[in-house]
Amino acid sequence: MKTLLKIGMALLATASAGAHAVGGQDSYELVQKGKYIATLGDCTACHTVPGKPLFSGGVAIDTPFGKLLGANITPDQETGIGRWSFKEFEASMARGHRRDGKQLYPAMPYAAYTKVLREDNQALWAYLRTVEPVHNEVETNQLPFPFNVRLNMKVWNWLNFTEGEFKPEADKSEQWNRGAYLVQGLGHCGSCHTPKNLIGGDKNAEFLKGGELQGWMAPNITGVAHVGLADWSEADIVQYLKTGANRYDIASGPMAEAVENSTQHWHDEDLMAVAVYLKDLDHEHDKPEPLAASEPAMKAGRAIYADRCSGCHTPDGEGIATLFPKLANAPLVNAQDAASLIRVVLAGNRAGSTDAAPTGPAMPAFAWNLSDENVADVLTYIRNSWGNAAAPVTSGEVSKQRETLQGE
Ligand code: HEC
Ligand code: HEC
Ligand code: HEC
Repeated sequence: MKTLLKIGMALLATASAGAHAVGGQDSYELVQKGKYIATLGDCTACHTVPGKPLFSGGVAIDTPFGKLLGANITPDQETGIGRWSFKEFEASMARGHRRDGKQLYPAMPYAAYTKVLREDNQALWAYLRTVEPVHNEVETNQLPFPFNVRLNMKVWNWLNFTEGEFKPEADKSEQWNRGAYLVQGLGHCGSCHTPKNLIGGDKNAEFLKGGELQGWMAPNITGVAHVGLADWSEADIVQYLKTGANRYDIASGPMAEAVENSTQHWHDEDLMAVAVYLKDLDHEHDKPEPLAASEPAMKAGRAIYADRCSGCHTPDGEGIATLFPKLANAPLVNAQDAASLIRVVLAGNRAGSTDAAPTGPAMPAFAWNLSDENVADVLTYIRNSWGNAAAPVTSGEVSKQRETLQGE
C-alpha cells in the first residue's frame, strides 16, 4: 500500500509539479531525491548565508564586473519563489530566465544547469517546495552601470550560452556518462575550473583546464600529464572530493567550501563516476623545461624552502599524506597562473574540515616575515624542483597579491 501510494504520488507530482502550493503531494522519495540534487548542485553555496535559514538568499558573489547576491529561493510567496510554477523554475535552471522573463546573471550557473535532466529538475522543485518559507527581500543585482542592465545579458547569452539537456555519448560507459553529467551539469565544476573570456564566458575549448577566481587558481582537473590529474588515481580523486584531502593535496579556499557543502555528501558511486570521467579528459600539453638549479632565484628559493617550509612539506616536496600537501609534481604548483600559490604563502590557510576529518591542519602566513622577493624565490624554487616545471614567479606578482590581500 505504502509503495503504491508513493508511486501514485510521484506520478501526480510529475504530472502537475508546480500547480499546487507547498504540501504533502510530492512523494517522500521524490523530495529526498531532490534534496540530494540540491546537494549535487551546491545551491546552498550562493543561496544560504551561513547561520541564516536555508536558501533564504543574500550570499554575496564577487564577479569581475561587481557584486551579485544569491536570491531567496524558499517558497515564500512575496520574497521567494512561492508563486512560481514548475515551468518557471525550469526556465531559470535551463535558460537563466527570471519569472518576469528577463535574464538572470550567469553567476547563477545556468550555463551548467541547462544540462540538468527534466526529471532531476522535477525532483529538485519538489524538494524546494518543502523548505521553510522565509520572508527576506533580496535585491540580487548590486552591479554598477552598465552591467546592472539585464538587457545586456541577452547579448552575453548569444555569445556564451548553449541551451540543452545533457546528451549521453553512445561510445562511452554509463559510468563515464554519469560523471560527465555531474561535472558539466549539477556540479558546475567548469564555473571555476574553466578559463573565462573577457566577458566572463567559458572558453569551451579549454574545458576544465584551469580558471582564476577572486585571487584563487582552480587548477586543471583533466587527466592530462603534469598540470592535470594524470598522476592521481580514481581513488585519489574520490578521496579528495570526499574528505578534502589526499596524498597529493588538501582543498582550500573555494574548493574547501565546495567539499564541505557539496562533494563530501555525494554518493561514492557518483564521486567514482566523476573520477572516471575526469581521468579520461586528456588534452594535449607541452611540458615546459624546469629552470636550472644554478639560477640565482632557484638558489635563494632553495635556502628559504629548507629553512621555512621543509619542516612540514618535507625536503623532497613529497609532503605527508592528508596533513601537509605534496608539492612535488602537484598540478596546483605547476599552474600557469601562480595567484593561488602566492596567496597561500602570504596569507596562510586552514584546510577545510569535513565530517570525515573534522579539524584541518593549517598553513602559516608568511606575509610578515618574507619579502616579496623571498616569496617569489621560494615559489620559483618549488615550481621548478622535484619534477615540477613552471614559469618563475616575480616579486611584482607578489606585491600585487599583497595589495589585494591588504584590501580585503
Ligand atoms: C555560484 C552561485 C550560485 C549557485 C551555486 C546557485 N545559484 Fe541560483 N542564483 C545565483 C544568483 C547570483 C542569482 C541571482 C541572479 C540574478 O538576479 O540575476 C540566482 C538566482 C536563482 C533563481 C532565480 C530567483 C529569482 O527570484 O529570480 C533560482 C530559481 C535559483 N537561483 C535556483 C538555484 C538552484 C536550485 C541552485 C542549485 C541547483 C542554485 N540556484 C545554485 C547564484 C547561484
Ligand atoms: C567555487 C569554485 C570551484 C568549484 C565550483 C569547483 N572547484 Fe575544484 N577547485 C577550486 C579551487 C580554487 C581549487 C584549488 C584549491 C586549492 O588551492 O587548494 C580546486 C581544486 C580542485 C581539485 C584539486 C586539483 C589539484 O590539482 O590539486 C580537484 C580534483 C577539484 N577541484 C575538482 C572539482 C570538481 C570535480 C568540481 C565539481 C564537482 C569542482 N572542483 C568544483 C575551485 C572550485
Ligand atoms: C606548519 C606547517 C607548514 C609550514 C611551515 C609550511 N606549510 Fe605550506 N601548507 C601547510 C598545510 C597544512 C597546507 C594545507 C592547508 C590548506 O591548503 O588549506 C599547506 C599548503 C601549502 C600550499 C598549497 C598546496 C596545495 O596544493 O593546496 C603551498 C603552495 C604551500 N603550502 C607552500 C609552502 C611554502 C612555500 C612554505 C614555506 C615558505 C610553507 N608552505 C610552509 C603546512 C605548512
